[in-house]
Amino acid sequence: MLAGAPRSPGNRAGSLRLVGRGAPNTTVADAAARLVFDPANSFVVGAFVDGQLIGTAAFYRERGLKERHKGRIWGVYVTLGMRGKGIGRRNLKVLLERAAAIEGIEQILLSVNPAQPAATKLYESLGFRSFGHERRALRVGDRYVDEEHMVLYVDSSAM
Ligand SMILES: CC(C)(COP(=O)(O)OP(=O)(O)OC[C@H]1O[C@@H](n2cnc3c(N)ncnc32)[C@H](O)[C@@H]1OP(=O)(O)O)[C@@H](O)C(=O)NCCC(=O)NCCS
Repeated sequence: MLAGAPRSPGNRAGSLRLVGRGAPNTTVADAAARLVFDPANSFVVGAFVDGQLIGTAAFYRERGLKERHKGRIWGVYVTLGMRGKGIGRRNLKVLLERAAAIEGIEQILLSVNPAQPAATKLYESLGFRSFGHERRALRVGDRYVDEEHMVLYVDSSAM
């Protein structure tokens, strides 16, 4: 049911519904750009039932010279009818295991809408901690969305 293989940007990226950090502004082209230039350091974990994609969790490494010790999670999503069955947690565990194994990755960051308690609880249960609350982080038309910024240090020397 679950596949943790890297996905090439050309194959099924166009069918993904993009959610999570920056979701309202994240286009398929943005997502493809995160994957295409640095495939060793960016990937999408997907869960499938009968060949149907029912859950995603994606990771990319920062590219700047002074930021390459950081990676970011985006695109965490499980389809409505499949929630509460452990799929989101499993996807993230696969992602974290693989991300932490990338040489030089010391911390993994994400941003979550505090109005999504399921996601926030899931991240906290995996060890993520909030380091800041950004009011009106996103603007969607006339509507604003706050974001909680969270981090997980995978390099214990940073604790
Ligand atoms: C967040 C999301 C990916 C979780 O996926 P899921 O497969 O339903 O989650 P799991 O079944 O693996 O549950 C993992 C944990 O999440 C939390 N959780 C899940 N559903 C919850 C709910 N309805 N209320 C509170 N906590 C919940 C729990 O801590 C749970 O752990 P537990 O089962 O040991 O109590 C899913 O709810 C989703 O797609 N939400 C909409 C998109 C979204 O918010 N994405 C995150 C953007 S940053």
